[in-house]
Amino acid sequence: MASPPPPPPDDAPAVENGHGHGHDHGNGNGPSPAKRPRAVISAAEICAEFAHHDAAAARVNNGSFGCCPASVLAAQARWQRLFLAQPDDFYFHGLQPGLLRSRAAVAALVGAADVSEVSLVDNATTAAAIVMQHAAWSFAEGRFARGDAVVMLHYAYGAVKKSIHAYVARAGATVVEVPLPFPVSSAEAIIAEFRAALDVAKAGGRKVRLAVIDHITSMPSVIIPVKDLVAICRQEGVDSVFVDAAHSIGQVPVDVRDIGADFYTSNLHKWFFCPPAVAFLHTRKDGPVAAQLHHPVVSQEYGNGLPMESGWIGTRDYSAQLVVSEAIDFVNRFEGGIEGIRTRNHEKVIEMGRMLAEAWGTFLGSPPELCGSMVMVGMPGCLGVESDDDAMRVRTMLRKDFQVEVPIYYNSRRVEGHEMSKDKNGDPVTGYVRISHQIYNVKEDYERLRDAVNKLVSEGFTSNKLRPLQKVLSSEMTACLACSLLVGLFAFINDCLV
Ligand SMILES: Cc1ncc(COP(=O)(O)O)c(C=O)c1O
Repeated sequence: MASPPPPPPDDAPAVENGHGHGHDHGNGNGPSPAKRPRAVISAAEICAEFAHHDAAAARVNNGSFGCCPASVLAAQARWQRLFLAQPDDFYFHGLQPGLLRSRAAVAALVGAADVSEVSLVDNATTAAAIVMQHAAWSFAEGRFARGDAVVMLHYAYGAVKKSIHAYVARAGATVVEVPLPFPVSSAEAIIAEFRAALDVAKAGGRKVRLAVIDHITSMPSVIIPVKDLVAICRQEGVDSVFVDAAHSIGQVPVDVRDIGADFYTSNLHKWFFCPPAVAFLHTRKDGPVAAQLHHPVVSQEYGNGLPMESGWIGTRDYSAQLVVSEAIDFVNRFEGGIEGIRTRNHEKVIEMGRMLAEAWGTFLGSPPELCGSMVMVGMPGCLGVESDDDAMRVRTMLRKDFQVEVPIYYNSRRVEGHEMSKDKNGDPVTGYVRISHQIYNVKEDYERLRDAVNKLVSEGFTSNKLRPLQKVLSSEMTACLACSLLVGLFAFINDCLV
C-alpha cells in the first residue's frame, strides 16, 4: 500500500496557490515580516554556519561557486536520508511535492505570475542549453531562416557563448557580439553599444531571433541595465530575450515581470545560500514558446512541460533543489533578510575595493552603481599580465603561495578612442582582480590580498616569471641566437674592413 508523502524537513510551511512561505512579491526579494522566527543571527553563529570553510584560505571569491551554511546542508542531508530510506516512496510521493514547494518559494521571491512559470534546473549552464536547444530546433524546423541573427554580449559567460555556438550557430545563426567597453563608465555607454550592435545584427533586413543578455557579467563583472536592454529588444523587434542572470538572486533585486524577458535564469547556489547545484529558469506563461521548451535530458516526463521534465531527469540526487525554503529561512535570520545582506555586501565590497585600489595606485573597473557584491579592481601594471594564461597563473600562485582565492581578469580590450587606463606609475593596467563580499568575509581577507600583491610588486615580480619554461627558454634562446648572429655579422664586417 502506498504511504503518504514524507514530510518536508523540519516544520517548513505548506504551499498554497503556488505561493508558499509568505514572502513579498519579488521587487526587493525581501523577507516577509511574518516569517522572522528567531533573533538576528550573531557573528558567532555566522562563523559556526561556515565552520566547514578552509580556515587557512582568504576566500574573496564567493562569485564562482557561492557558499552554503551548515543549517542548509543539514536540511539537505535530511532529504538525502529520506530518499535513501525508501527510494520508491520518495520518488513517487515525496519528490514532486518537495520540488513544488521550492518552485513556489522561488516564484514568490522573483515575482513570477504563477508557479508554473518556474522550473528548477541544475545550473545556469543547463538553463542556457534549454533555451539554445529551442533556438536550434527553430532553425532546423524552418521557423528561422539560415543567417538570422543571435546577439550576445562580448562578456557573455564562456560556457554560454559555447552553448550559443554549439547549438545555434551550428544550426545556421549569425552570431553578433556586443563589444562592451572596460573599464566601464556608465550604463548609458553599455546601452549605446547594445543599440549599435543591434543595428549591425539587423543590417540588410536580417531578423534577430534571440538576444542573450547577462544581468551581471562574470568577467569582468558589471551590472548590465538589463531592463533597458530588454525594452530596446522589444522596440527593435527581437523575437525573444534570454537573460543569463547566473549571479543575480542575492546580489540585486529581481522582479521577472518588471524585467520582462522571455527567459530568465539565476543560480540559487551562488548568492542565495543553496547547496550546489540549483538554479531556476523563469519562462513567461503568456510567452510564445514556453510550452515548446524541453530539458536537454529527455526522460519519463518528456512533453509534460519544462517544470515537470526538469523534476524527473532520471535517478539522481534532488536534495539541493529541495532546500530553497531552508535557504530562505537562513537569510531571514539577518537584519533586512536578503535585501539587508546584499546592501551590506555591496557597501563592504566597494569599501574593500577602494582600499585595494588606493594601496595599489589603481582604480575600480566600474562605478559603484554598476556593482553588486562583486567589484573589479585594477592590479599594478608592473605585474605585466599579458594573457588569460598569465591571469590564471597569477591566480594559482596567489592561492598556493598566499592562500588567497581571487579570480583575475586579463583586459585585452582597448576602448576605441581612449588610451588604456594606467596606474599611478603610468603603467597600463591589464590585470584586474574580481573581489566578492559575502557574509562570512572579514577585512583581513582583503588585507591579505593587498599585502600579497604589494609583496610581489616590491620583489619586482612580473607574470612572465610564471610562464612555462619552454616558452621563456625559447624566447631567450631566440634572443641569444639573434645576438650571436649580430656579433658574428659585426665580426665579419670588421674583418672585411680590416
Ligand atoms: C554570467 C554567468 N553565466 C553562467 C554561469 C554558469 O553558472 P553555472 O556554472 O552554475 O552553470 C556563470 C558562472 O559563473 C556566470 O557567471
